[in-house]
Amino acid sequence: MYSGFGLLKQQNQQVNVPKHIAIIMDGNGRWAKKRLLPRFIGHQKGLNAVKRVVTHCAEIGVESLTLFAFSTENWRRPPEEVNKLMGLFLKALQREVSKLDDNNVKLQIIGDRSAFNDEIQTHIELAEAQTADNDGLVLNIAANYGGRWDMVEAVKRWQLANPDLDVSHLDESALSKYVCLAEQAEPDLLIRTGGEERISNFLIWQMAYAEFYFTDTLWPDFNEKSIDDAVHSFNQRERRFGQTGDQVKSC
Ligand code: FPP
Repeated sequence: MYSGFGLLKQQNQQVNVPKHIAIIMDGNGRWAKKRLLPRFIGHQKGLNAVKRVVTHCAEIGVESLTLFAFSTENWRRPPEEVNKLMGLFLKALQREVSKLDDNNVKLQIIGDRSAFNDEIQTHIELAEAQTADNDGLVLNIAANYGGRWDMVEAVKRWQLANPDLDVSHLDESALSKYVCLAEQAEPDLLIRTGGEERISNFLIWQMAYAEFYFTDTLWPDFNEKSIDDAVHSFNQRERRFGQTGDQVKSC
């Protein structure tokens, strides 16, 4: 519980902070276009927003934050933009990890990292190793990630771990141990910026019961108050998990 920032503070409310927030960061290109700037500047400003949001989520006590940085479909963008995004990813891994480490953040990358060049793969491994023992916010960056890829990989991992079992033994609880982020709480809250209202193959298994929050704010403009607004909206929701409203109230 926290009573703290922005709107929440004005209303003097006690608030349930979601344990796990997942974010689809959208609108970098439009942010730049509106200012007649190259799309890449929007991505650079987007990285600043990432830093603000990570710091704020750690402050308010979020346990896990998962950011969709690059989807399996993003390779279809013009090669120049893909190269710039890879460069930004590498720069972030080289320059930001020590600060994350100082702030007790544990960094994990989810997705098929084999598609990245050797330098990026090496820095991913170094970053994860450097922050592995931290017990503060877990920051998951989804890079070359897709929810369908995740599920296919989970089935493969289950089969490898259970070579003597046939698929009739596979059920939801068995498979859930092999999807990405299995050891973390499932996302409670999905935020998507940039005005679109879809999940774009993000964490499709893990978000089965997440509350969705869509905002027109473009990702580079997203800030601490934006997070507070989303948390506030989350607190207005009645999460029923299949039960009736009366059942939930009597718990
Ligand atoms: C979506 O905006 C954004 C991306 C595909 C890339 C996200 C990257 C960052 C936020 C910066 C780097 C982050 C890390 C973690 C290194 P868009 O380009 O689809 O925007 P548009 O819909 O307005 O075109």
